[in-house]
Amino acid sequence: MADEPKLFEVMYTCRAMRRLKPDPVPEELLLRLIDAANQAPSGSNLQNARWIIVRDRAQKERLAELNRKGVERYIQEQRIPELPHQPREKRERMLKAVLWQAEHMAEIPALIIACLEFLAPPPDTFAAGANAGGSIWPGVQNLLLAARALGLGATPTTLVFSDRPAAKAVLGLPENVEPFCMIPVGWPMGRFGPVSRRPVQEIVHWDRW
Ligand SMILES: Cc1cc2nc3c(=O)[nH]c(=O)nc-3n(C[C@H](O)[C@H](O)[C@H](O)COP(=O)(O)O)c2cc1C
Repeated sequence: MADEPKLFEVMYTCRAMRRLKPDPVPEELLLRLIDAANQAPSGSNLQNARWIIVRDRAQKERLAELNRKGVERYIQEQRIPELPHQPREKRERMLKAVLWQAEHMAEIPALIIACLEFLAPPPDTFAAGANAGGSIWPGVQNLLLAARALGLGATPTTLVFSDRPAAKAVLGLPENVEPFCMIPVGWPMGRFGPVSRRPVQEIVHWDRW
């Protein structure tokens, strides 16, 4: 493990890597990602995160189709041509990468679905609400960092769940299991580079807003 990059280097270069090669990723590495995700905290230590690794081509095609529909709607409804921290040209580059991934989703070697298993079927508002994912997102971030450390590209995606019932049906999820994030994983075509974030001075408040 001595040749693996250090934690802060990993964090600061853990970009969304959407253009991925079709080359397979060894099962052992995929399980290592899930094992890293599984070290994350969960509310009340419920340890109710569940992970589905989709490699079957037909399953990937089905998820790719759902994602494509979500991406098309997202692009059509795009009303943010630029942001203070993301000039137009960078935003357009991001959207191009989102489209590239939408077109190649089924060729990506593994689509990892992050789910939570609830004791009983949760109300819709809970599953979709902003606070609902507290016990899954720390694991997702661990997985992204682990992928980066192993030289694998990954991106957290959610547009595939625009039609949640259809995604649940494809994955065969029982009523008490909700999907939150799909992470396409593979060997990157491009190179890792630093993430671009707003300076800390702009986003921190001391003692009160
Ligand atoms: C909650 C959440 C949902 C996201 N959904 C998608 C998605 O559906 N498709 C996609 O390509 N990227 C998705 N992303 C990735 C973001 O676009 C990406 O993290 C952001 O643009 C920063 O990219 P960077 O790390 O390369 O700077 C999502 C990220 C988060 C945190």
